Amino acid sequence: MAKVAVVEGDGIGHEVVPVAREILAAVRPDFEFFDVEVGYGLWERTGSACGEETIADLQSADAILFGAVTTPPDPGYRSVLLQIRHALDLYANVRPIQGEGVDIVIVRENTEGLYSGIEWTEPDRACTVRVVSRRGSERIARYACTLAGSRRHLTIGNKANVLKSDCLFVEVCTAEAARMGVPCRARYIDALCLDLLMHPDLYDVVVTTNMFGDILSDAAAYLVGGLGLLPSANIGKRAALFEPVHGSAPDIAGQNIANPVAAIRSAAMLLSHLGDPASAAAVEEAVHRVLRAGIRTRDLGGVAGTREFGAAVLREVGQRK
Ligand code: NAI
Ligand code: MG
Repeated sequence: MAKVAVVEGDGIGHEVVPVAREILAAVRPDFEFFDVEVGYGLWERTGSACGEETIADLQSADAILFGAVTTPPDPGYRSVLLQIRHALDLYANVRPIQGEGVDIVIVRENTEGLYSGIEWTEPDRACTVRVVSRRGSERIARYACTLAGSRRHLTIGNKANVLKSDCLFVEVCTAEAARMGVPCRARYIDALCLDLLMHPDLYDVVVTTNMFGDILSDAAAYLVGGLGLLPSANIGKRAALFEPVHGSAPDIAGQNIANPVAAIRSAAMLLSHLGDPASAAAVEEAVHRVLRAGIRTRDLGGVAGTREFGAAVLREVGQRK
């Protein structure tokens, strides 16, 4: 029996995660769920956004279903999600972008790069160190090449013309691809952003460093209908966390209008990870059928609320069984 930690977080996390959890519980009544509280709301109430025991609780789970957290742009506040990614060593951030004529997976290095957490503020400047290590590059390259090996090819998103750190990243990824027999090419990230949007069919698996992957995946959401649709997995050697690509969306929080598809699809990725691809496919198909029936949230031009959309998916999942 799998133990699943559920973290709603902040903002629309409180709306989309309960929907995803209910669907997960419907397809796998044997799963044991437990709630873990982290985020800005917790920080406002208690002065701590993520306690020591919280990390241990998350480590005790077989998988984590995560919503989103609010991170204020305040030098005194440390992002909870970065803390969790580092503590659980969730090195691979896997972001499938799938839709009509689009089938891309962005594999983002998730523990170093510009989000290594090595930074300081001086009176008149602030510095953030961009760390790219051989070990960090090797393991993300291996992950991406394994994925690309079962698909078509690999693109290495980089800025090696300007950044020494990316020279190492490209060198390591290219060597790993050659070793694993995966066709690969390197592309500069700025040109890649445009080309991916104009010619998505030319892309399959894209591996890149932390911040480039963060930006590229939000941009790529344009290809398939927006942020409300994109799921992601954060994979480590032992732990795995599944979350929508989007954030806590304070502008629409508390109104029952957030699109829960990204969270539901993240739950489907969790099912696959726990060795149940059949249930994952059932959930994905249920989402497709509901969308095809014209039931949509406001971001997709519809009128369905978050809960109503979730209930429709739940009905579809139930009917399949
Ligand atoms: P965001 O992803 O929360 O929202 C961007 C835009 O997309 C907003 O207009 C929002 O309403 C819309 N949107 C996002 N998800 C949606 C959904 N499911 N349905 C319909 N519309 C949706 O990014 P933003 O506004 O830059 O950041 C808000 C907060 O979230 C910040 O505090 C930021 O630090 C945090 N954040 C957290 C992330 C995480 O927990 N993984 C990721 C990105 C941002
Ligand atoms: Mg992001």
